Amino acid sequence: MNQHKLFELKRPIIFAHRGSSAYAPENTLAAFELALKQNAPAIELDITLTKDQKVVVFHDTSTERITGYKGIINQMTLSEIKKLDAGSSFDVSFQGEKIPTLEEVFELVRDRLLINIELKNYATPSDDLPKQTAILVEKWKLHTSVFFSSFNPLALFKIKRYLPEVPIALLALDGKLGWLARSRLGELLRYQAIHPAYSDVSQRLLQYHHQKGHLVNVYTVNDAKTMRSLFDLGVDGLFTDNPILALEQLNVSVSPREKQS
Ligand code: G3P
Ligand code: MG
Repeated sequence: MNQHKLFELKRPIIFAHRGSSAYAPENTLAAFELALKQNAPAIELDITLTKDQKVVVFHDTSTERITGYKGIINQMTLSEIKKLDAGSSFDVSFQGEKIPTLEEVFELVRDRLLINIELKNYATPSDDLPKQTAILVEKWKLHTSVFFSSFNPLALFKIKRYLPEVPIALLALDGKLGWLARSRLGELLRYQAIHPAYSDVSQRLLQYHHQKGHLVNVYTVNDAKTMRSLFDLGVDGLFTDNPILALEQLNVSVSPREKQS
C-alpha cells in the first residue's frame, strides 16, 4: 500500500473536483484532460451503474441538469446515455461532449493522476457498482493510482473485499448530518482517509485523525482565502473545481508542518 499515489504525492494534494469543472463540463473527458494540462496531481469523479450494468461517470440521479433530458441514469442503457449532450449546458463550445464510462477515463488518464472514485450508489446502495468497478480497476491495473470514497459505508465495505489493497475514504456530510461518519463509529470501516466538508475542519479534527494515521482531504473549496487557511491548518488534500487557483494558493501558503522543518 505504501507505493500508492495517495501516500506518495506531495501534500496537500489538489484534487480537480469532477475534473477541472470550473473550466469544462463536470465529469467529462474534457474536464479530466484539462486537469492533466493544468498540472493537477489528482482528480475526483462520481460513478454510477447504468441499467445494463456499465459504470458511467456522472454525479446526479437525473440526467436533466447536465443534459436537459429528463431521465434517470440507472434506468437508462449506456447506448441511450451516449446519445445525450453533456457539454452544451456548460458552454456551447463543449457541445457534443458525452457522459464518459469509467473505462474511457481510465484509458485517457491511465496512471498519470491519482483518481478518487466516489461510489454514488446512494439510491441503490446494495447494487453491483463495487463489483463492476473492481473488475475495471483489475483490467487496467490501476491499484496504486485509484482510491475509493463514498457517503455509503456499505459500498466501501464491499469494494474493500474485492480490492483489499486499494485505500478507501469515508465521506462525511457537512454539519450535524455528518457526525456519525466523523465519529469513532465511522472508524469501524478501517478507512485510510476521511473526507469532511471544509466547514467541519478544525485543528482538533486534524490532530485526532493524523494521530490515528488517517489522511484528511476536504471538500469542496473554490475561494482562495479558504484554501489558504485550510493549507495553513495542515489538511492533506483539497477538492476544488478550480485546480489552477488552488495550485497558485499553495505557493503563498506554508503549512504548519513545513514551517517546523
Ligand atoms: O468527494 C467530494 C465531493 O465530490 C462530495 O460531494 O456531491 O460533489 O459528489 P459531491
Ligand atoms: Mg463527488
